[in-house]
Amino acid sequence: MQKAIVAKVGDYQVRLCDRDDITAVIDINAETLPEHYSDYFYYEILTEFPETFLVAELDGSVVGYVMCRIEYGFSHLRRLGLARKGHVVSIAVREAHRGKGVGTLLMRTCQDAMLKKAATESYLEVRVSNTEAVALYQRLGYKVSGRLEAYYKDGEAALLMASQLGQ
Ligand code: ACO
Ligand code: ZN
Repeated sequence: MQKAIVAKVGDYQVRLCDRDDITAVIDINAETLPEHYSDYFYYEILTEFPETFLVAELDGSVVGYVMCRIEYGFSHLRRLGLARKGHVVSIAVREAHRGKGVGTLLMRTCQDAMLKKAATESYLEVRVSNTEAVALYQRLGYKVSGRLEAYYKDGEAALLMASQLGQ
């Protein structure tokens, strides 16, 4: 069956992740990020939140992914109150394919999908030293809403960044 393309930038295509893509997603995560998860974790997120798990491909090979969870809890944007939130758990693009708009397109497309799942805000954690990713999130309208000391295993702090959806 033809896999439905949901967005494009140049020759890159963004589409929903499929179970067959997970091994490529795990490879990309392993080569780009220090945070790894069990194989089971990826399959579980795909099963529970298939609409917000996307891959980018070029000529049939996967070069990037974004995986998210839809959660309900305290808002990161309002002082009080609960919100349905789209949590960007992990995003990565293979190094050779960066700077071409793929990361931006993955983020925008998953935000659209979060909106369709009735989320009103999106949030994520990012290493304080990850200036490239922080700049990308800022361009997309994310603001720092907190700092989580020693969030990562190596002791580095995370910035909690959040953005309103649908504005
Ligand atoms: N043509 C050329 N350049 C472009 C285009 C375009 N069409 N669109 C955007 N750019 C530029 C942007 O201006 C930006 O430049 P700058 O940051 O130097 O100002 C740069 O390219 C990055 O934007 P994108 O191309 O959209 O993003 P990219 O595909 O490079 O992916 C990402 C960004 C995912 C952060 C990537 O760097 C990566 O995989 N890093 C390693 C993994 C990582 O750190 N992931 C985030 C961890 S936090 C988390 O997962 C919640
Ligand atoms: Zn997270």
